[in-house]
Amino acid sequence: MFDKVSDHSRQRIETKMEEMRDQQTKEAIQEVIEFNRTPSDLKALIDKFVIGQEKGKKVISTAIAFHYRRLGKALKEAIVDNGDDIDTALRNTSTPKANILIIGPTGCGKTYTSEIASQLVGVSFVHEDMTRFSEVGYVGRNATDILVDLLVSAGGNPHVAQMGVVYLDEIDKVASELVSYKDVSGKGVQKGLLHLVDGVENVVDLGREKISLSTKHVLFIAGGSFENLDTIVKGRMSRQGMTGNWKDYLMTEDLAVFGMERQLMGRFPVKVVYDGLTTQDLKDILIKSAGSPLLAYASDLKAWDIDLEFSDDALAEVALRAQKEGTGARGLISILHRVLLEDMYRLPGTYAGEFVVDGDYVRSRL
Ligand SMILES: Nc1ncnc2c1ncn2[C@@H]1O[C@H](COP(=O)(O)OP(=O)(O)O)[C@@H](O)[C@H]1O
Ligand SMILES: [Mg+2]
Repeated sequence: MFDKVSDHSRQRIETKMEEMRDQQTKEAIQEVIEFNRTPSDLKALIDKFVIGQEKGKKVISTAIAFHYRRLGKALKEAIVDNGDDIDTALRNTSTPKANILIIGPTGCGKTYTSEIASQLVGVSFVHEDMTRFSEVGYVGRNATDILVDLLVSAGGNPHVAQMGVVYLDEIDKVASELVSYKDVSGKGVQKGLLHLVDGVENVVDLGREKISLSTKHVLFIAGGSFENLDTIVKGRMSRQGMTGNWKDYLMTEDLAVFGMERQLMGRFPVKVVYDGLTTQDLKDILIKSAGSPLLAYASDLKAWDIDLEFSDDALAEVALRAQKEGTGARGLISILHRVLLEDMYRLPGTYAGEFVVDGDYVRSRL
């Protein structure tokens, strides 16, 4: 039996839902407006997760804390000026953006730092793989895809979506020479990215509803390994008679020689070079990082009343193996999995108590 809802009732429901939506938007915006973590506060929180990369984390925490503080302050003023109209306020707010470029070998924490920092700030985060971007070849469509990803990550809230972080992974793979064999030149892709980073406004057509979204306030973080970039920088330094660590002297010009568009790289004023992780870093990740895969396994086993313990020797062995794999901290996950798989299958239900893994045990499993 279906009773038609009276126009009056429907009106009431719609008004109520609209109010709830407004309330949610206000709360989310409030989070940005009230953002008051200092760069050192933010770094201290990131430190709990990301091991090493001291200098990089300092630069990134500063850039992110300033970005959201600046955006929050500008929005607050715009909301007052526009009589609580957040849409207009967002449109009328303009802040200089300090987008971030993170260079460093695979698995050293580039994506991880970006994601954790976004979580700590309380904004949405999306991860975009630039190798896919270039293969599709049609940049316009992808810009909209990124906006849709942001919207999904923001739980459908367009205002929240527009203040999020977009991580452009493997940005170095769209360098000119590298994609010259494809139907799309790296140049075209980079031009498209330039618009995206500067701020494009697109209407996302969801059928029932059309939502206008802009990347004007989105913070972009690009990451890539930029293999052999050091040779380019060192070459320039030696031609100019400069000495010192190349990581401290990286310039947009070097990235242009690498094959990146100068204009695009100019939109990433904050440039950070991450180090490859040492065996000690890898060991520290296992025991100290709040995101440690070892702690995750321990907590999983704890649910079966099994207390997992790794001896120092075992930790060192796992770190060493991961180091040899050359995939940074990523190797830790697969190695631990190989070491523990059999026990994770066998022990639950048949054993409770302490389960100690030592170096010999690790070696016997690998
Ligand atoms: N410096 C680090 N500290 C703690 N964990 C790390 C670190 N670097 C990498 N990891 C771990 O390895 C995984 C892969 O790292 P990721 O940041 O994605 O690498 P990439 O530098 O290639 O973007 C992360 O999800 C995280 O669990
Ligand atoms: Mg990555």
